[in-house]
This record gives sequence, C-alpha cells and structure tokens, in this order.
Amino acid sequence: MKERKVAVEAHNITVAYDRQPVLWEVDFEMNEGNIIGIIGPNGSGKTTLIKTLMGVITPDSGYVEVFGAEINRVRDQIAYVPQRESVDWDFPASVYDVVMMGRFRKNNLFHRSNTNDRKIVRESIEKVGMTPYINRQIGQLSGGQQQRVFLARSLAQEADIYFMDEPFVGVDAATESAILELMTTMKNLGKTLIIVHHDLQTVSEYFDEVLLLNTRVIDYGPVNSVLTDDNLKAAYGGQLNVLTKVGDLLKKREFPIREKEFKKRSKS
Ligand SMILES: Nc1ncnc2c1ncn2[C@@H]1O[C@H](COP(=O)(O)OP(=O)(O)O)[C@@H](O)[C@H]1O
Ligand SMILES: [Mg+2]
Repeated sequence: MKERKVAVEAHNITVAYDRQPVLWEVDFEMNEGNIIGIIGPNGSGKTTLIKTLMGVITPDSGYVEVFGAEINRVRDQIAYVPQRESVDWDFPASVYDVVMMGRFRKNNLFHRSNTNDRKIVRESIEKVGMTPYINRQIGQLSGGQQQRVFLARSLAQEADIYFMDEPFVGVDAATESAILELMTTMKNLGKTLIIVHHDLQTVSEYFDEVLLLNTRVIDYGPVNSVLTDDNLKAAYGGQLNVLTKVGDLLKKREFPIREKEFKKRSKS
C-alpha cells in the first residue's frame, strides 16, 4: 500500500482580530487523499482557519506547513473555492474567463493561454456540467451554477489540495450531487479536500474525517469518533436550536444520549 504523506500541518496556530482570539492553539496534521470536513457553529473560526492554512491570513503565533514546506513554496499545489457570498458577481466575466483564471499563476500575471490551458479549461467546465453556459456572464447564473464555475476554476488549477468554503450552501440538488461526484473523483486521484461545512446531518455522508472547531479544536479524526455527544455539546453548547438538531442527529445515529438534558436545555 502506498504510504500516506502529511498534506497540511498546523502548529499551535493562534489568530486574533482586535485582540479577540478567533483561533486558539490550533494544532493538527491532515493526511493526503482524504475528504476532510471542518465543522463548527457560526463564527467558530472555520473560514479564518482555512485562510490561515492557505497563507492568506498570517497567524499571530504558530505556523503552517503544506507537504512539509512553507506555503509560499507550494502555492501552485493549492486551490481555493471561496464562500459564494464573498464574491463580487457584478464583475464582468464569462464562465470561460473565470475558469481560465485558474490557469494564471502567481508569477505569471501576463500569462497568455496556450492550447493546453484552453483544453484544460474546457474539460474543467465539462466536468461540472457547465458547457452549455460557457459564454454566459457569471452574474446571470443561478447560485448552484456559480458554485460549479468556481469548482471548475479550481479544477483548472490542477492542484493537490482543495480548500472549499461551504460549497453546498444555496445550491440546488443537481449541483449538490455534481459536487459530491467530483469530490469522489478527486479523492480517487489522490487529492486532498478540506471543506468547510455547517450541516451536521450530512457530515457522515460526505466526509472521511472531520475537524470540530470552536476557536479551539474540539476534536479531529474519523467522523464517528468525533461526532459524540460530549464533543457536539462542547462545540455547540449555547446554541439551542442547533442543539435540538444535534439531538435528532444523535438519536438517528444511536449515539448514547441523555435526551432529557437536551429537552431541559431547549426550554430554558
Ligand atoms: N476581518 C475580520 N475582522 C474582525 N473580525 C473578524 C474578521 N473576520 C472574521 N471575524 C470574526 O472572527 C470570528 C470567526 O469568523 P469566521 O472565521 O468567518 O467564522 P466561521 O467561518 O466559522 O463562521 C467571527 O466572530 C467573526 O465575526
Ligand atoms: Mg465562514
């Protein structure tokens, strides 16, 4: 069997905004070839974490390594699918243009596309089922279609690690299954997928491993060992409506759970 390499390692990362810590002593190693979910409540630091792992945010302390190297040396191996709501959709660009951006590298700003780039761009658009819309302006697409365009752009980068921020939010069922299918294909190619996600119901279906975050790492590992009663309470403690959902989830999965406690809490 092929030995797994460490893809991403975080060493004691702390990030603060206005002195308020958003990530606290975050420390882990993620192996290549897995589909890893980063889950946690709103504002728990998920987006900040993946931006730090990609080197977009510099931590106040600690450091990140990707494939055993400093991020700047392996940037070409990293692709990013941003949270959809963080994108300016009025930007005048077609589907083809946006996906072609995936071929432009940092040190190649005035890069002219060659035959190979154009081929990869067309293939990437085809893989997400967007060929019929190739000349459409991105602002005119539905949420699901926009998400697919960003996936295609990341595919065109031919990276080894893919960071995606809530790719399932606001997409239609067809896009959801297109994304899931792509995830499996990419995993089979040995890619590492690190995906921010907030729907607890689908975690075990989508991911091999999950990192449960709330400023600190509550737990990280295979889905079933992380999604325990205690861990979920530690992560979601104060959030009553979420807790009710967690209660439902735990019941379904038959984790040991003291149901009364959830009822008591949700009334107060
Ligand atoms: N640029 C910023 N300046 C100040 N505070 C920020 C900034 N970005 C995020 N935050 C705060 O940091 C916390 C974590 O944010 P974020 O990483 O976006 O969480 P998540 O993605 O889990 O919802 C939130 O309280 C948020 O308000
Ligand atoms: Mg976020």
